[in-house]
Amino acid sequence: MIEQLDQMQQAALAELGSINTLEALRAWRQRYLGKQSPLGEISKGMGKLSAAERPAMGQRINAVKQLLEQAFAACETELQTAAQAAELARDQVDVTMPGRPVQSGRLHPITQVLREIEAAFAQMGFGVWESPEVESDEYNFELLNIPANHPSRDMWDTFYVQTPQGADQVVLRTHTSPGQLHAMRYFAPGPTRVILPGKCYRYEAVDATHDMQFYQVEGIAVGDNITMADLKGTLAQFAEQVLGTVKIRFRPSYFPFTEPSVEVDVSCTFCQGSGCRMCKHTGWLEILGAGMIHPTVLRNAGYDPEKMSGFAFGLGPGRVLQLKYGVSESRLFFTGNVRFLEQF
Ligand code: DAH
Repeated sequence: MIEQLDQMQQAALAELGSINTLEALRAWRQRYLGKQSPLGEISKGMGKLSAAERPAMGQRINAVKQLLEQAFAACETELQTAAQAAELARDQVDVTMPGRPVQSGRLHPITQVLREIEAAFAQMGFGVWESPEVESDEYNFELLNIPANHPSRDMWDTFYVQTPQGADQVVLRTHTSPGQLHAMRYFAPGPTRVILPGKCYRYEAVDATHDMQFYQVEGIAVGDNITMADLKGTLAQFAEQVLGTVKIRFRPSYFPFTEPSVEVDVSCTFCQGSGCRMCKHTGWLEILGAGMIHPTVLRNAGYDPEKMSGFAFGLGPGRVLQLKYGVSESRLFFTGNVRFLEQF
């Protein structure tokens, strides 16, 4: 019996040495210390022993039992500690590692500059009006004193919209000027003072430097005694607020809907007026068109041109952006190049 016990103990300890999972360990315990274990079998043999032999044998069996229990406990602690260490190592966080940068969105530069333009004119009492991008030929041209077949129509290469009535009466507005009529017809015979920002469309088949879609901001002020001086003061104030310290100048020009008409320049924002490639060494950059609203247009809007007068202007926020940041091509703002756009 003693021999049997020793063999069993040796076998159990040897096996324990190669156990490396808690499940295997529990199976081991079942095998060597459970009800069906050899230890149980050996204990049953006690009945055959004499009364004198029995106590010593009983002690011996208990000692083996205790030894195996202790070995089990030690192995269990070891495996548990190892499992815990492995888990900690797996979940380790390097708190010194730099974080991933958060991608933050931002306003497109054209939206930013539109807001600046709106704020500048709001300070001077201009409301912001919206008018449709799809227009009738009447609003886009006729009411603005641009009759069909008039040579000035060549100034605008037009997208026509196919409608059930035909293909020549509905257009994508070529400028924000039709909004003048919508606003004035709303306010007449009272005074009008609004800007009209929005998208415009031109069929630019020839000139690769022009976009088919672009922004304009139209502005009009109609009242009792509005003069060119008001126009100049308003635009000077706008230029100062949006572009910083610049000078402005008027050059005579022609638009069918204004009389007189002017082209407005600002002193070159690239060279401060000393002459450079951007201003073609003139020291000036063109920024917008403007003038006193033509009597015919005032009449079309419901005003009596004998009693009321007004000025109008049309500017390109893309152009303003270009001058504000010294960017050679305003088209760059619309290429969707995020690395470029993020600079603003
Ligand atoms: N509508 C003109 C264009 O797109 C710009 C313009 C010029 C608007 C003079 C005006 C103005 O209101 O007075 O070419």
